[in-house]
Amino acid sequence: MSTNITWHPSLSRSERNKYRKQRGFTIWFTGLSASGKSTIATALEQHLLHLGFAAYRLDGDNVRFGLNKDLGFDEKSRNENIRRIAEVAKLFADSSNIAITSFISPYKADRQQARELHAQAAAHPDDEPLAFIEVFVDLPLEVAEARDPKGLYKKAREGKIPEFTGISAPYEAPENPEIKIESDKTSVEDAVRLIVEYLEGKGLLK
Ligand code: PPS
Repeated sequence: MSTNITWHPSLSRSERNKYRKQRGFTIWFTGLSASGKSTIATALEQHLLHLGFAAYRLDGDNVRFGLNKDLGFDEKSRNENIRRIAEVAKLFADSSNIAITSFISPYKADRQQARELHAQAAAHPDDEPLAFIEVFVDLPLEVAEARDPKGLYKKAREGKIPEFTGISAPYEAPENPEIKIESDKTSVEDAVRLIVEYLEGKGLLK
């Protein structure tokens, strides 16, 4: 627990956005392992970069090589994984970048906490809440398991991976995500188009 610390006022977000010429926000992907969230998130990142926006993707596997290398897959570790990612995404968004996160993020409460963190993010009194767009990459478990690109579902069924999402650990699907993509019925290009149209409709890509 940190004590004897003082919050230092920052530049206002609108002032920072003026210089950066883009708004910062977070696009939060959630879905089962092998649902396609990383593939869509990567294609979206590339698309936004081509359009000239600063976008950066934080990915489940990759972040666990560094920042979160101390965390496993029990419930408490996943809570802490998502708490840290939400904080990092908020910092990216606050610095006028587009943060794209692709984590299973299986617990509703954790995703809600990430959303609230963005809603309350105000380093300066003039700051508006940061936009948080939840994208549910929806794929039936049996299809994800049949895909099994990393062979993890097979190992989980054999009891070689404990607490595997969808097999021996829960996945709590979002009820009201901003965007839902049925990844067995939607191409990657169409998924990116849907998301970009949503962002444009909300005036976030100005
Ligand atoms: S979580 O639940 O949000 O904390 O998980 P995340 O940080 O996204 O990490 C998911 C990737 O870790 C690999 N992996 C597992 N996933 C689920 N359950 C267990 N037990 C597990 N062990 C390892 C797996 O490669 C996940 O990557 P994706 O891209 O989702 O398949």
